[in-house]
Amino acid sequence: MENKKYNPYDQMLMVLESAAQKLKLKESDYVALKHCERQLQVAVPVVMDDGSVQVFEGYRVQHNSARGPYKGGIRFHQDADMDEVKALAAWMSFKCAVANIPYGGGKGGVKVDPTKLSQNELEKLTRNFTMAIAPLVGEYIDIPAPDVNTNAQIMGWFADTYSRINGRYTPGVVTGKPPIIGGSLGRAEATGRGVMLVVKEILKAHKKSIKGCTVAVQGNGNVGGIAAQLIAQEGAKVVAISDISGAVFCDAGLPIEELLAFSKQRKLLKDYKKDGVKFVANPEGNQMVLTAAVDVLVPAALENQITKDNADKIKAKFIVEGANGPTTVEADEILNKKGIVVVPDILANCGGVVCSYFEWVQNLANYYWTEKEVNAKLEEKMMIAFEGVYKKAEEHKCPLRMAAYMVAIERIVEAKKIKGYYYG
Ligand SMILES: NC(=O)c1ccc[n+]([C@@H]2O[C@H](COP(=O)([O-])OP(=O)(O)OC[C@H]3O[C@@H](n4cnc5c(N)ncnc54)[C@H](O)[C@@H]3O)[C@@H](O)[C@H]2O)c1
Repeated sequence: MENKKYNPYDQMLMVLESAAQKLKLKESDYVALKHCERQLQVAVPVVMDDGSVQVFEGYRVQHNSARGPYKGGIRFHQDADMDEVKALAAWMSFKCAVANIPYGGGKGGVKVDPTKLSQNELEKLTRNFTMAIAPLVGEYIDIPAPDVNTNAQIMGWFADTYSRINGRYTPGVVTGKPPIIGGSLGRAEATGRGVMLVVKEILKAHKKSIKGCTVAVQGNGNVGGIAAQLIAQEGAKVVAISDISGAVFCDAGLPIEELLAFSKQRKLLKDYKKDGVKFVANPEGNQMVLTAAVDVLVPAALENQITKDNADKIKAKFIVEGANGPTTVEADEILNKKGIVVVPDILANCGGVVCSYFEWVQNLANYYWTEKEVNAKLEEKMMIAFEGVYKKAEEHKCPLRMAAYMVAIERIVEAKKIKGYYYG
């Protein structure tokens, strides 16, 4: 990775600028989208198990609210910083607009390696971070959700802490909660399910079937692991998958269900042993996954993974971006020239936020749907979003990323024009 030179917010601005120009927008129409409406940085003290006090840096960024309350996950990662969170917040504005759900975009993060914390420390960090950003969030203001290294339990602590501050049960302040305390059935799988649906749809659009096609997945977490499982259930062969420790390979198809059960116990792929399954440690394993000779590549780990240094070596015919921002602008140009079809993050992984929207709707109504209902509604929303972007790409003869941004920017700009710029 080239993290020092790479600034994800600058990457977002470049794509925004080209899409706005393709839409022939006046600068005044979209200039507000180049800025985040609000940025909060907080210090989060935690009394550690040994009695010492550590202070962690946290962020909540609200990019745009033209279409509704801010919506976006919270990430716990040692490399989280303000620029990363700003970019992720902006991508959420565009994603919610592509999915056509009534939200703006926001994101949060804490600079921490959560694997170094005990469960007790993790709970204290989550609750103190919630207290620190509480003045800016709320069920009709800004609604967080899980992201890298955060999960349903962490969202449960968030909901409980916020409800105590608010003096009343407020489950709609955060999504991705455990179903027993107001989470939606199907939410945990929704991003991976959406990725699987998009893989099927992009193959169908190219007159190919998911059955028998080969797939490599980078990242074995909530998005990558579930996507791999659902893609395999559709009859594809997942031949490579990686995590932070390295990657496993099997040409005949990996035993995905077994692998998933293994990683659910918080175990890393380096410790997985099975005849016929080869393990290669990172960074080599990771690069081997990204450049594997497969039909479909699903990057589902972090941003800045497909860069100008490895884009030329990619052999997959289709890339479906499970992660946010996995491909740099320079790499995207190389992939386009090579004729590789890239389904962009703001479309490919929008299943998570769509289902978060369903969770929020259920919380506000205090009326809960079956998993079958949730999955059917998710599929419907995903198909409409896919069709809208696909049509736009055909109409403008442009790559899907450009088309997705065009769809999103048009919707946000239209909403902003109606609301106006009055702050007086
Ligand atoms: N969770 C969601 O609902 C959701 C929704 C939309 C987008 N996303 C995006 O998807 C991506 C993954 O999120 P997640 O929720 O699955 O996180 P996660 O923490 O559940 O999983 C991340 C996975 O990536 C692996 N990983 C981390 N660094 C790696 C590296 N350098 N090489 C290979 N693997 C590495 C981890 O070991 C883990 O398996 C992020 O970009 C996130 O923003 C998540």
